[in-house]
Amino acid sequence: MLTGSRGRGILGGRYGRRAVGLLGAASVVVAMTAAGSMTPAAGAGGAQIGKDLFGTLADGTKVWRYTLTNGHGARVKIITYGGIIQTLEVPDKHGRPGNIALGFDNLADYVAKSPYFGAIIGRYGNRIAKGTFTLDGKTYHLPTNDGPNSLHGGTQGFDKRVWSATPQKSGKNVGLRLDYTSPDGEMGYPGTLKTTVTYTLTPGNSIRMDYHATTTKATVVNLTNHTYFNLAGEGSGDIYDQRLQINARNYTPVDSTLIPTGQIARVSGTPLDFTRATPIGARIRDGHPQMVIGRGYDHNFVLDRHGHGLETAARATDPRTGRILTVLTDQPGLQFYSGNFLDGTLVGTSGRMYRQGDAFCLETQHYPDSPNHANFPSTVLRPGQVYNTTTVYGFSAH
Ligand code: GLA
Repeated sequence: MLTGSRGRGILGGRYGRRAVGLLGAASVVVAMTAAGSMTPAAGAGGAQIGKDLFGTLADGTKVWRYTLTNGHGARVKIITYGGIIQTLEVPDKHGRPGNIALGFDNLADYVAKSPYFGAIIGRYGNRIAKGTFTLDGKTYHLPTNDGPNSLHGGTQGFDKRVWSATPQKSGKNVGLRLDYTSPDGEMGYPGTLKTTVTYTLTPGNSIRMDYHATTTKATVVNLTNHTYFNLAGEGSGDIYDQRLQINARNYTPVDSTLIPTGQIARVSGTPLDFTRATPIGARIRDGHPQMVIGRGYDHNFVLDRHGHGLETAARATDPRTGRILTVLTDQPGLQFYSGNFLDGTLVGTSGRMYRQGDAFCLETQHYPDSPNHANFPSTVLRPGQVYNTTTVYGFSAH
């Protein structure tokens, strides 16, 4: 068992077992190729799409990197492995661009030890208790990779698949369509799941993520993106001064393995109350049992919703750089994770090491473990139905 000096997984994971699962994947990398030449495609009003080689997997599969530029100060780099957002540059209040997403500068690190940096998460974002659920009277077993539970689609989830990429251009928008077909039974999930995720960079400095899936058998689906944000800049230190507001008066409390108890609880009077903008660090060392279980924030917020369309879920601001992130989604939940398992063992894109609290994730989603909670909104997808969801991360600065 590969564990760090404090007996925890060297990936900063909660359980050594997850670390081993991820490290096992390291053996598939043989070669890592330096970035090739950038080949800008035709743009629209300064918007451009470029492509270069990011690396090669052990089986010879090439992993490409696409660079989307909007001509208004925003640039996003996406790799076909995991559909990962490798870097995300947006302007600060002085108009200076900076990378605000944690990541690596090479493919080998993504394969060997990424805690889901920037990745597409599927088939089921977040946890399924004991890797088991029952659907239409049949019980399914998923690989466990987070203590007793199955996390983020299992040992080889969508974050570890190579997606086929198609650049998109429409008006002043530039985008990348990513397709992956997950075979029937992959990671224990029933049905062949045809999945498309489209990232669109708008002239207004928003990244829109459209998720689409169909299945051949009744199954469960919960797709999300796992970008780690630091609005002051990747590798610049912790995010404790950055302020967060979440439109949620309720959350789903968890047990000691981060599985929801099934209860929908009020945030008021707890450190999870972000109904008013509050610095992330203000209450992060609170002794509330939920904070101790999560080692900080690692909770699903039940969004206050009015309808079925895109609604504002959260807003984060950085007082130093003036950057503002607004999250809009049509999903019922939001996992706020304060980078609790980052522990100084990973060196990021700019050569700096990441420590606990150096980023936050705002993962739009259905509630964790929904397949085992009849009182949670359903995540069941049946043949003939279409899974369609959208999340927008909008950036501005003042
Ligand atoms: C999610 C989980 C966290 C952690 C991270 C990745 O956000 O909720 O517990 O596993 O992914 O490390």
